[in-house]
Amino acid sequence: MALQDFLDESRRLVDATLDRWLPAADAEPRRLNEAARYALFAGGKRLRPAVARAACRALGGSDEDVLPACCALELVHTYSLIHDDLPAVDDDDLRRGQPTCHVRFGEATAILAGDALQTEAFRILAEHTPRPELVADLVTELARAAGIEGMVGGEVADLEAEGQTPDRDRVEFIHNRKTAALFGAAATMGGIVAGASQQAREALRRYGRSMGLAFQIVDDVLDETGDAATLGKSPGKDRRARKMTYPAVAGIDASRQAARELAARAAEALAVLEPGGGIEELTGIAEYVVSRAQ
Ligand code: IPE
Ligand code: IPE
Ligand code: MG
Ligand code: MG
Ligand code: MG
Repeated sequence: MALQDFLDESRRLVDATLDRWLPAADAEPRRLNEAARYALFAGGKRLRPAVARAACRALGGSDEDVLPACCALELVHTYSLIHDDLPAVDDDDLRRGQPTCHVRFGEATAILAGDALQTEAFRILAEHTPRPELVADLVTELARAAGIEGMVGGEVADLEAEGQTPDRDRVEFIHNRKTAALFGAAATMGGIVAGASQQAREALRRYGRSMGLAFQIVDDVLDETGDAATLGKSPGKDRRARKMTYPAVAGIDASRQAARELAARAAEALAVLEPGGGIEELTGIAEYVVSRAQ
């Protein structure tokens, strides 16, 4: 299947399932449901669910097996965007091509909508995973990637690094936590629901972490080179906030090169898996991520 078709199909499946499993937009408290759905259904590439779905395929699993994990990943990711945009964090006004959640609903509701999406992620994982014996592994994987040693820790390190002298190890520390960890979890969770061995889980985690680091490097490049219409968010913010980005450390060309190398490394990590459906999509997603910044 062409990659674009796979991504489109993944988006349709995930969006329809999220709509079904979340409380309705007009349920009480209405403002909370509206704010949560506003942030969630504004668009977004749905790449983390696509990675999980492709990894599940690579290990012979079905869409039914992986959809709860796909939804949970997208919920945690969207929560992280709402909180990342808050005035106390990155202070952004535009997200997914529309005013950020706090601009539209106010800070208190935006904070609580983020909290709600995070909690709903774990509810959906626990309630809807077809094989209950896998839930503990899935919850552990997602919580580790999202928590102190993952995304939240990375967000704190990102803020602490503002205005400091750019340093490659430091920026990789930040990017591996705030972004690559969740991509690593996406790939691994796709494998877990398909019954992957520990060796296959590790290969998928390596794939996800490498492509996830490439993804954040590309995001940094696009903040310098992209435009609001394409990105759906305001470019040029990292330089103004004196963020420690990959281009701040290495420049734009070397950042693009690093992203290419990481995508190649991601593909190599899959060599230990049996060739078949899913692998092609995983490789294609890594190439697509890099192509966004070339
Ligand atoms: C943005 O992620 C935040 C980063 C980790 C760089 P995406 O670029 O995947 O955002 P959406 O989901 O497509 O809006
Ligand atoms: C944020 O990185 C990653 C998250 C965990 C949300 P950025 O701050 O660079 O993401 P954007 O550019 O605002 O999407
Ligand atoms: Mg940020
Ligand atoms: Mg930001
Ligand atoms: Mg960014």
